[in-house]
Amino acid sequence: MMKVKIWGNHEAMSMAAAGCIAREFGREPRLLVCLATGSTPVRTYELLGSRARAFPAHFAQLRVLKLDEWAGLPMSDPGSSEAYLQHRVIRPWGVGQRHFVGFASDSRRSQLECQRIQNWLARNGPIDLCVLGLGRNGHLGFNEPGSTLCPVAHRARLSEQTRGHPMVSHISVKPKYGLTLGMAEILQATRILLLVSGEDKRKPLQRLLRGEITTEFPASLLCLHPQTMILCDRAAVGPRPAQNKSLRPLT
Ligand code: GLP
Repeated sequence: MMKVKIWGNHEAMSMAAAGCIAREFGREPRLLVCLATGSTPVRTYELLGSRARAFPAHFAQLRVLKLDEWAGLPMSDPGSSEAYLQHRVIRPWGVGQRHFVGFASDSRRSQLECQRIQNWLARNGPIDLCVLGLGRNGHLGFNEPGSTLCPVAHRARLSEQTRGHPMVSHISVKPKYGLTLGMAEILQATRILLLVSGEDKRKPLQRLLRGEITTEFPASLLCLHPQTMILCDRAAVGPRPAQNKSLRPLT
């Protein structure tokens, strides 16, 4: 069952998330962590950078897997997940480049690229800890709402809403596709941490907390996962706490 913890603001949520992630890192130095990008986890990753300076041994052997990537962008584009994670995670946390794995955004053969990630995960997985953000339309990674979902790493057609994401706001011709882990690969993670922050996530969060499972709202599949924790801030929850008793917030 999903556990929900509500924090007063984005900073408090980020501190809690960083604490929770750091504890996992301290327990298992070779942990495989899968990381989302986007604005929600920025502060969490920054706080973990400070921890990495204090406890470098907890980060030195970590294995980091990129959750998703915009297809067709140069790897060096500031909007790519690659540039984001290099800048905010890999360098500040002191993770070795050979311990960082993810889709090449500029691959001309995206099917093969997805197959490469599928194979890598089949050999090196499952993910120990998966840190996710919530798309405004309920997507996870680039698993977009639809009548079906793909279980493994694949090239996904992006919705117009997703193409409007701030990460690619500087690009005039927006990516049409994303490369993403599939829902089965995400759900096979031992632990999942979903971060939800800000008023514009209120509707999708409410829908998620209703607990109805549908491929039209991919985040709802998290209800099937035994170890998912949602950390959210008050702005995302709204003034009244969620009513669903089975998903009652812990704080
Ligand atoms: C993006 C990314 C996701 C991210 C989500 C939320 O499209 N593909 O990995 O978690 O949308 O982003 P944000 O935190 O900026 O709202």
